[in-house]
Amino acid sequence: MAAGWGGAFGLAGGGLVDPSSNGGLRRVLVFRLGATGALPALQAVERTFPDPMPEVSATPVVLAQGRADYFTHCQVCHGNGVISGSSIPDLRYSAVTMDPAAWRAVMIDGTLAQRGMIAFAEWMTPEQAEGLRQFVLSEAHVWKRQAEAP
Ligand code: HEC
Repeated sequence: MAAGWGGAFGLAGGGLVDPSSNGGLRRVLVFRLGATGALPALQAVERTFPDPMPEVSATPVVLAQGRADYFTHCQVCHGNGVISGSSIPDLRYSAVTMDPAAWRAVMIDGTLAQRGMIAFAEWMTPEQAEGLRQFVLSEAHVWKRQAEAP
C-alpha cells in the first residue's frame, strides 16, 4: 500500500498536506499475516526561509502577470497558492527563487528538464519568466512574514 502525500491531489493541493510531513517520506507498506513489526516514526522536516530574502522589485502590473502565469503554468505541479505538497520543491523556500540567474537557467535553458521540470521558453519570454519569479518571491515574503509574526 502506498502511503504519504503524492499524486495529483497532493501536488496541486499542497496547502492541504499536513505540514509535519513536509518534504516527508512517501512509503510503500507491506503487510504479512502474523507480522509484529512496527513502523519507524515519521520524521518531520523543518523548512526555513532564506534569510535575508531578496526584495521584490517588480511593479504591481508585472506581479499580476506573474500571478496569472503561475496559475496557468505552474500550480498544477508546484501547488495552488504556491504551496507545494513537497513531492517536488516548494518554490517559496527554494534558493532558485532567490536567484534570477538560477531561475532563468531552470525556466528558459531547461537545466532540470531531465528531472521532470521542462523549460518554459516556448511559452514565455525570459522577462516574463523573471516576472513570474518576482511573483513567487512576493509570495515567499508573505509566508516568511507570517512565520516570523509573534
Ligand atoms: C509537470 C510538473 C511541473 C510543472 C507544470 C512545473 N514544474 Fe517546476 N519542477 C517540477 C519538478 C518535478 C521539479 C523538481 C526537479 C528536480 O528534481 O530537480 C521542479 C523544479 C522547479 C524549480 C527548481 C526548484 C529547486 O529548488 O530546485 C523551479 C524554480 C521551478 N520548478 C519553477 C517552475 C515554474 C515557475 C513553473 C511554471 C512556469 C513550473 N516550475 C512548472 C515539475 C513541474
